[in-house]
Amino acid sequence: MPENPSADASVAVAAPTCEHHGSSLGIGAARPRLSWVIESAPDGWLQTAYELEIAPEAGPAWSSGRVDSDESVLVAWPDEVPPLRSRERRTVRVRVWGTGGTRSGWSPLLTVEAGLLVPRDFTAAMITPTVPELTRPSLLRTSFDLPAPVVRARLYITAHGLYEAEINGLRVGEDVLAPGWSSYHHRLRYATHDVTSLVTEGPNVLGAWLGEGWFSGRFGIHGGRTALYGRHTGLFAQLEVDCADGRRVVVNTDERWRCAYGPVTFAGLYEGERYDARAELPGWSRPGFDASDWQSVRPVVFDRDTLCAPSGPPVRRVESRAPQAVLTSPSGRRILDFGQNIAGRVRIRVRGHAGATVTLRHAEVLQDGELYTRPLRHATSTDTYILKGGGTVEEWEPRFTIHGFRYVEVTGWPEEEAHLDVTAQVIHTDMRRTGWFSSSDALLNRLHENVRWSMRGNFVDVPTDCPQRDERLGWTGDIQVFAPTASFLYDCAGFLTSWLADLAHDQYADGTVPFIVPAIPVPEWTPAWPAALWGDAAVLVPWTLFQRFGDRSVLRAQYASARAWVDLIASQRGEDGVWRHGKQLGDWLDPAAPPEDPWQARTDPYLVAHAYLARSAQVLALIAEELGESADEAGYRILAQEARAAFLDTFVGADGRMSSDTQTAYALALRFDLLPDDDTRAAAGERLAELVGKDGHRIATGFAGTPEVCDALSDTGHDDTAYRLLLQRQRPSWLYGVTQGATTVWERWDSMLPDGTVNPGEMTSFNHYALGAVADFLHRVVAGLSPAAPGYRRLRIAPRPGGGLTHAEARHLTPYGTAEAGWRLAGGTLTVTATVPPNTSADIDVPGLDATTVGSGTHCFEVPWPAERTGQDWTDTMWLKD
Ligand code: BGC
Repeated sequence: MPENPSADASVAVAAPTCEHHGSSLGIGAARPRLSWVIESAPDGWLQTAYELEIAPEAGPAWSSGRVDSDESVLVAWPDEVPPLRSRERRTVRVRVWGTGGTRSGWSPLLTVEAGLLVPRDFTAAMITPTVPELTRPSLLRTSFDLPAPVVRARLYITAHGLYEAEINGLRVGEDVLAPGWSSYHHRLRYATHDVTSLVTEGPNVLGAWLGEGWFSGRFGIHGGRTALYGRHTGLFAQLEVDCADGRRVVVNTDERWRCAYGPVTFAGLYEGERYDARAELPGWSRPGFDASDWQSVRPVVFDRDTLCAPSGPPVRRVESRAPQAVLTSPSGRRILDFGQNIAGRVRIRVRGHAGATVTLRHAEVLQDGELYTRPLRHATSTDTYILKGGGTVEEWEPRFTIHGFRYVEVTGWPEEEAHLDVTAQVIHTDMRRTGWFSSSDALLNRLHENVRWSMRGNFVDVPTDCPQRDERLGWTGDIQVFAPTASFLYDCAGFLTSWLADLAHDQYADGTVPFIVPAIPVPEWTPAWPAALWGDAAVLVPWTLFQRFGDRSVLRAQYASARAWVDLIASQRGEDGVWRHGKQLGDWLDPAAPPEDPWQARTDPYLVAHAYLARSAQVLALIAEELGESADEAGYRILAQEARAAFLDTFVGADGRMSSDTQTAYALALRFDLLPDDDTRAAAGERLAELVGKDGHRIATGFAGTPEVCDALSDTGHDDTAYRLLLQRQRPSWLYGVTQGATTVWERWDSMLPDGTVNPGEMTSFNHYALGAVADFLHRVVAGLSPAAPGYRRLRIAPRPGGGLTHAEARHLTPYGTAEAGWRLAGGTLTVTATVPPNTSADIDVPGLDATTVGSGTHCFEVPWPAERTGQDWTDTMWLKD
């Protein structure tokens, strides 16, 4: 029988995926939700039914039969199919029926394998080295024999600290900085590795490098603190080998393991790493190595209930970059310019005499031609390699550190080696790229690229503020404003779901959301207090994930946390119904604030706070509605209405003028729907445009206003003003940094001053994504691609040409497949094109055309577009500084 007797060649389905995983090895869900993308289908195609086939490794497959349903994203695991047990492997395939009676063939197979799902599956112990210097990284090893050839082997592994595992002299997997950073006392993620090809019949060795990392190394603000989670590093490994003779051999970390110092003499995330190759122990993770003088290890108390499988991808090296220039500084130092500000570290290949010491200092910027490290504060970011010599090329990259840098100053490179063989390794969570934008404006394109690089530099397991100074913390406000942009650029659903789980765990009993998640004690910010925009991450980040990825379960998982936050701040309202409580960060980093006082914004911080309360109450009502919590829904709707009324009474005058007559105030009032009617909204839009004009079309907003201001202008018919603000090059503006040669988004509008000196403020990062939240406007409004229903089940294609641009386009891999929106102006005609994935539809809103809805396929719309509508042409004066 042919496989697909009556399949229709015009409809093809890609292999299903489960949850938000790229790789389905060691997943933590017993009933993973399944998704599939229709790769090709006739135009206008909608799914009407599907059939799932789920097969165990041995035995008959289960079939759902034909299920009448249009669902194809995060479809529940069928009730009739038993949940996965720990270690269990199944294959899944799907076929679909749709418009016109079409039916696809079977998709390729997805293989899912469960990790260890219940605490009792974990039989290993957390072991700690007994070497005297607690802070020095060490090596741990054990040897074991396998009685027969190997059929399958899995390594389940994690650590208190950071680890890199080796088996028989070979590195296990490609993860770096594993197990990453989570709220360790609540959730410690273990990795599952297929190590079948690494183990063999006979003698074997399992070993690991172990460093301090976030667990016990120095971390925090103002130099940080050590031992945040514990004083002792620990390794937890469970190797399970199925042999051909039917036996299963389990090798656990236990008191029989041995430990020793290795060549890493120091490693700190901020400080960098020191490696003495003369102290290497060749063959230490291979059989036959003499470890008789190694020290003992000791089991430590450890709660196995905290172990969980990751919900997103691990951190990896994702790119290698050669230096673009080798500079000699005025003081005669050699500085490599990698041409791009990144998070990562360098790998060197060097030859020289034993004891020669290569020192690598990292920084984001130069000042007066020299490496400029003041913005790093206490993060010394210096790696040192001592050569073992012997005439061979030595290759090294640190293991347990990471830096934010573009420049590396190299000293001590052996004189006889003319060539500096140094490459930068870009390191971040290995997410799938899903978003692209381009336009006719090279500066705007570079801004977009800078936003993407700032996401890459700050999505290193935890969404951080910056990757370079003694901070690198999961500031809740930064990701709250950036989450929509992030969700477009990369598939970060699993990454942010994991982080939100930590947010809920670390939230205080009264509902206060810590400023940073995972929460660690930091001076000035601990204990945390309720602060708008930051705390609202508890409500708004889950909502963003639902909108962008169609994942309803994240709403359920975060519901209690979101409620706790809103209930707390609602309870703090005064008699006038306004949340005017505590120290609010408000429109943090308003460009008018002096460098030493980022709190000094022009907009009343309580206006910002109360606007956010209203916004979170509205969104929480929508979340409650989604979850079928109707009593809550009604309650939060009332709260939202009350908050809106109080906002109006308190912050908006009878003439529509706001108490803070600022860009941020109008932007928030408009975007959070806090104004009563169209007239007031129009007046607010007018005033906002006027203010932007008065400010010389320069930015006058901080963290709160910046993500909203262009949208607020566009929503109220002021596209031209929005474009002038967007394309402004004088500071403060988004493009100012670009004209200064920025390759990432800066923390401050003027982190680098026009004279090439660094802003004197204490917080001067060159890699902060928050102000890059405008990229979402580029996607949604400039190019015109946004979700009209959760998960892009329905798209909105609504480009707003202007600003002298002659074309703009965005592409996004939605959960349903590739969507595109773009436009081009030529010969007095605007041509809009839209690509709509199968099983979705799109609302088309093109200026000058009647609104319409289209089905899947590629569509083209043409509108006469007189030259005067093109807007100001900025491109003629475009320039980029070297
Ligand atoms: C961080 C910010 C953060 C802020 C809190 C800074 O040090 O870098 O991005 O949100 O503190 O106000």
